[in-house]
Amino acid sequence: MFGLKLLLFLLMSCAPGVLAAPSQAPMQVPETSGIGAKQKLQGRFLHITDMHPDLYYKADASQKSACHRRKPKKARPRSGYYGMPYSDCDSPLTLTNFTLDYLDKEWSKEIDFVVWTGDNARHDNDRKRPRTTNEIYMLNRAMAKRMEEVFLSKGIPVIPTIGNNDVWPHNIMLPGPNSVTFEFSSIWRNLIPFESYQVFQRGGYFSVEVVPDQLAVVSLNTMYLYDSNKAVGGCEQSDPEDPGNLQFDWLEVQLERFRRRGMQVWLSGHVPPSADNFFPDCFVRYTELSLRYQDTILGHLYGHMNADHFFFLDAEHVRSKRDRNASTSDTFGEPHAEGKKKNRLLYNALLKDFDDLPKAKRNSTYDDYGVVNVSPSVVPSPYLPSFRIFAYNTTGTPYVPAMQAARSSCDDADGRDAWWCGMAKPWHANPESPSRTNRLWTPLGYAQYYLPDLDSANKKHAPKVKLEYLTFSRRALHPSSGSEQAEAAWHPIPLRHLPKSLRNATMTDKGSKYVPYGLADLTIGSWVDLGRRLAAGTEAKLRKRFRRFMYMGGEGA
Ligand SMILES: *[C@@H]1O[C@H](CO)[C@@H](O)[C@H](O)[C@H]1NC(C)=O
Ligand SMILES: *[C@@H]1O[C@H](CO)[C@@H](O)[C@H](O)[C@H]1NC(C)=O
Ligand SMILES: *[C@@H]1O[C@H](CO)[C@@H](O)[C@H](O)[C@H]1NC(C)=O
Ligand SMILES: *[C@@H]1O[C@H](CO)[C@@H](O)[C@H](O)[C@H]1NC(C)=O
Ligand SMILES: *[C@@H]1O[C@H](CO)[C@@H](O)[C@H](O)[C@H]1NC(C)=O
Repeated sequence: MFGLKLLLFLLMSCAPGVLAAPSQAPMQVPETSGIGAKQKLQGRFLHITDMHPDLYYKADASQKSACHRRKPKKARPRSGYYGMPYSDCDSPLTLTNFTLDYLDKEWSKEIDFVVWTGDNARHDNDRKRPRTTNEIYMLNRAMAKRMEEVFLSKGIPVIPTIGNNDVWPHNIMLPGPNSVTFEFSSIWRNLIPFESYQVFQRGGYFSVEVVPDQLAVVSLNTMYLYDSNKAVGGCEQSDPEDPGNLQFDWLEVQLERFRRRGMQVWLSGHVPPSADNFFPDCFVRYTELSLRYQDTILGHLYGHMNADHFFFLDAEHVRSKRDRNASTSDTFGEPHAEGKKKNRLLYNALLKDFDDLPKAKRNSTYDDYGVVNVSPSVVPSPYLPSFRIFAYNTTGTPYVPAMQAARSSCDDADGRDAWWCGMAKPWHANPESPSRTNRLWTPLGYAQYYLPDLDSANKKHAPKVKLEYLTFSRRALHPSSGSEQAEAAWHPIPLRHLPKSLRNATMTDKGSKYVPYGLADLTIGSWVDLGRRLAAGTEAKLRKRFRRFMYMGGEGA
């Protein structure tokens, strides 16, 4: 089995310069780990993040004890059976079990793959019970096992990633290979493709072809890019062996190879690639690569912040030192500790960034942007449990990348600018690519689900999963309404997963609160447009909604 996969891998990597159009039929890959086992695409995937299961969680405990102890007895509110909403407490196993059981029952038949962006151990927020390496690995092993049972066993690839709470000490990860990369290559043995195994053991990153030969997900190890990791240098140009630099060197080769094969990719990771989270040089390299391969990258999926939001990778933010000053607003930090306060600042910082978007609607300006989607967490800290379902185009025409010219470089490049300017390589941006025009593999929209009644759930009454909002327009939910097979046709979100007010295509006056954005698709242009609308502030309810979704109705909303 492995031999065949290895052979395919070698064949593919030995075809330099071939700009092949993707074949229409998914390649038949023998089932070794579930990848490729599923043939018919549903046109949807799940993004789930930050589960933070906690074995010490107790119901009827105080928040002060991290929900581990009853004392102080009079402290209110008390922790619930399924967790404590809007708190600093982690997830009881009742909540992580409930979430995965629900996804198993209600969604596993509707999705093609799962992007799982890390933090599968509790926080270190109880001095009386410090975390240990063993506990972190044990929780990760338990969650991985459950993810395999729920998804992989049904042929649905799961792409995990290392979170800053999946290592000990918190935030610190030394250059690999080391005990962390060895442990995770064991924990995720069935999730990491054989051909990625060796690279993973060194760097903790890998990629999976979720639709063989056509669509891939890259899992990055953001621990080597995150500026809280004091064990690494942070992509300094003087150190080519820095693990962040090695990771970007690897990513560039991956992107180039995927592009040559006519494939499209999602980039995913734990800590989002913002100026405030990443080391300055890592941020420049991430942005540079993301924009230079804009025609190959469908989008950027991250967790860690727990607050639902999106932001732009912007060429202006890294083009020169002068411009970079404007971008480093100190707002994109870790959600815990001063979490809620920081997240309140995040809203203002985002609006300010949106306000900086050029007003002109020239297509060419989209060359300079990438969109990062940060999904809220399963852990109800500091908001509510949630997960996100993306829908994407499986029927459109494939994009065939063409050779492209190098973009002009800059003069007198040094230091950080050299990452930006020294790379006078071909700039692969194209308005016809799936990140810019709705066609095969283009993300069409997402549905954000959450558990708003966590507080009133108890041993006898499980919490209810509700739709919080959709990015879609109301009409897009019923693509073939009017036609005879309307009900049997494909829907971006299965009708049974919509509230009743949205299920009927003709009742257009109802359910509008779920569709405030009305985005035609999730191309870069659609997001830039939404950013501009939010910045303009002329639509009375739009900002309010965006803000409420960020904080799920909690503090700051
Ligand atoms: C959660 O699920 C696991 C595995 O299915 C089970 O062993 C455990 O008892 C469950 N825990 C709770 C609290 O429901
Ligand atoms: C950029 O920031 C540096 C350091 O904070 C400052 O000295 C410099 O004047 C700033 N440049 C501009 C153009 O604002
Ligand atoms: C701009 O985009 C629109 C719609 O996507 C397209 O019809 C038009 O040709 C584009 N213009 C240029 C100059 O690329
Ligand atoms: C998928 O892309 C094609 C264009 O290639 C378009 O005609 C079709 O409407 C898209 N599908 C959806 C559901 O948007
Ligand atoms: C949708 O609503 C219209 C008008 O109220 C009704 O005639 C139609 O039967 C409904 N369709 C479905 C599928 O419920």
